[in-house]
Amino acid sequence: MNTKELEQQYELPVYPRREIVLVSGKQARLYDDQGNEYIDCAANVGVSNIGHGHETVAKAVYEQYLALGNCYSMFYNPVRARLAEKLAQLAPGDLNRVFFCNSGAEANEAALKFARASTGKPEIVACMRGFHGKTMGALAATWGPEYQKPFAPMLPGINHVPYNNFDKLEAAVGDRTAAVLLEPVQGEGGVRVGDREYFQKVRRLCDDRNTLLIMDEVQTGFGRTGTMFACEQFAAPDLLCLAKSLAGGLPMGAVLCNSRVNVPLKSHTSTFGGNPTACAAALASIQVIESENLVSNAKTLGAYFLEQLRGMRSEKIREVRGLGLMIGIELKEKAGPYVQKLMEKRVIALLAGATVIRLLPPLVISKEEIDTVVVTLKEVLSD
Ligand SMILES: Cc1ncc(COP(=O)(O)O)c(C=O)c1O
Repeated sequence: MNTKELEQQYELPVYPRREIVLVSGKQARLYDDQGNEYIDCAANVGVSNIGHGHETVAKAVYEQYLALGNCYSMFYNPVRARLAEKLAQLAPGDLNRVFFCNSGAEANEAALKFARASTGKPEIVACMRGFHGKTMGALAATWGPEYQKPFAPMLPGINHVPYNNFDKLEAAVGDRTAAVLLEPVQGEGGVRVGDREYFQKVRRLCDDRNTLLIMDEVQTGFGRTGTMFACEQFAAPDLLCLAKSLAGGLPMGAVLCNSRVNVPLKSHTSTFGGNPTACAAALASIQVIESENLVSNAKTLGAYFLEQLRGMRSEKIREVRGLGLMIGIELKEKAGPYVQKLMEKRVIALLAGATVIRLLPPLVISKEEIDTVVVTLKEVLSD
């Protein structure tokens, strides 16, 4: 059996698949098993910010795995310690402590638990079109009956309000609200950029009502939006959830917390959380982001990309929006066929909802590659 047949036979069919078999990647390029080259505008849904096949991370992983690949957090470990310190230094505000886990859903799951434990309150306010992962707790915070329905009943006490609407959010935050959970830019929900004033008002509201602010930066973190963390452009949270690009492509999640967050000993742990291999990858990946100026790259090239796309004339486009290298092109019709056509023309893009083409290239993408993507989009959207 070939690759496709094997995966189809032996894996649960929970992912909608594209008909190509990817086998390698370098920087912002991907290659399939037929030798075709693609410009990557998906970065594994925001994982590969530093690009594919980065030798700095490969070397760090290799060396750390040989030295000590795993080290349960009952023992101290120098690599984990250095990463914890580095994240605390990078994070805005007073987010000085970290809990390590292995994915975005796990980071949000932990944050929801930490908010309950820290406040003694049970409820959460989240947003319509928000996406926070698919484990039971995170799923209840994720918007979307289609995801929730097969697994009902959901965790109770999670209220969804419209995004960027302060009055509706204020009305939903009561004395039982442990936390407000927000993405600074809604990714899966259609690349909807948060309003700065809204976030600042939410911050003040959370302070006034003794409610915690959780920011889900699983997709926006590590330079994607033109700052190391998007919250730097919005408001400082009490809990900051990270994953995806944190460890340069290895599975890792983290929740950064300020001093308002307190959890009892042993109340939340993870076998793989903070394993030295992932920590070494994360340290190396952050070093790459810093030394290759990828945050400012995302800012300047993101602005350039947006400008090119906004200048594109197509009857099919309703709106182009985004922040840094997180871009959405909302069409007046279904976007799926256009994402497929882009792939046939060797550009890999994503969907965000039914009508939005989402572009999340590695932050190492070049201006020339962006120009090629814009030309290809023009072709595809004028067909
Ligand atoms: C904002 C956000 N939060 C959480 C998640 C879930 O992350 P994971 O798939 O690693 O569980 C995602 C995944 O796309 C995401 O975009």
